[in-house]
Amino acid sequence: MSFSEFTLPAALSDWKETPRIGMVLGSGLGGFVDLLENTVSVDYDDIERLPTSGVEGHVGKLHAGELAGVPVAIAQGRVHTYEGWSAREAASTVRLFHQLGANTVLLTNAAGIVNPEFSQGSWMLLSDHLNLARLSPLSGGAQFVDQTKVYDAGLRKILHNEAELAGVRLHEGVYAWVNGPEYETPAEVRMLRTLGADAVGMSTVPEAIQARALGMRVLALSCLTNFGAGISENCLDHLEVIEVGKRAARTLHRILVAAVPGISREQGKSTG
Ligand code: HPA
Repeated sequence: MSFSEFTLPAALSDWKETPRIGMVLGSGLGGFVDLLENTVSVDYDDIERLPTSGVEGHVGKLHAGELAGVPVAIAQGRVHTYEGWSAREAASTVRLFHQLGANTVLLTNAAGIVNPEFSQGSWMLLSDHLNLARLSPLSGGAQFVDQTKVYDAGLRKILHNEAELAGVRLHEGVYAWVNGPEYETPAEVRMLRTLGADAVGMSTVPEAIQARALGMRVLALSCLTNFGAGISENCLDHLEVIEVGKRAARTLHRILVAAVPGISREQGKSTG
């Protein structure tokens, strides 16, 4: 029998399906779970060895159910390195999805806009990332995992097609991972732009690295909740970030529900 990092409560271990996709929902994006059918929900607290967060707007629940007829697992809420968790702990839900049998992850987050051409309240597919937190979920081991194609090109294409059909603008670009928890200074946002970033946030990269290390395919989306510091006149406000995220989430829900059957059919194809 293979090693199981997480001990599951009966409600989850009795679930008869194998999730085709494991999804992580970021700040303000949790409403997506209402679209699940035949759902089993458990608190992170009830899954032994899964860390739980105390940040407002971040719930800690694991849902298993069906979306457009496809079995999926959804992690509502994540823990962050800025709370003091390690990058490995921040990637725990991905290892849980892997333990449940998923081989594709879909990661969402709230992010600040660094590319001034992008619009607030819209979405960006990650094409690549900058790991500026310089932390890794693989630290402590010697796994020299290739990072040339972290974000699956075939899966991105499916999302672009569905966005186009729905008449929704979907940006694509480079996500810079910073540790936080404070937002950036205007000088830092200018630096990020110079380095090639299109958006900035405090999550997702540890999970993406972890997923690739486990051979899972990765699709990641940033909800562009605000302009990075100094791009607009306004100061940044966490509650506004959550509010904009909630509104933008509805647009994404439609696209994702339409995309899920295609994403699950792509199973097993290589990343690239
Ligand atoms: N910076 C970093 N993380 C964020 C931001 C931001 O502007 N907005 C939402 N998450």
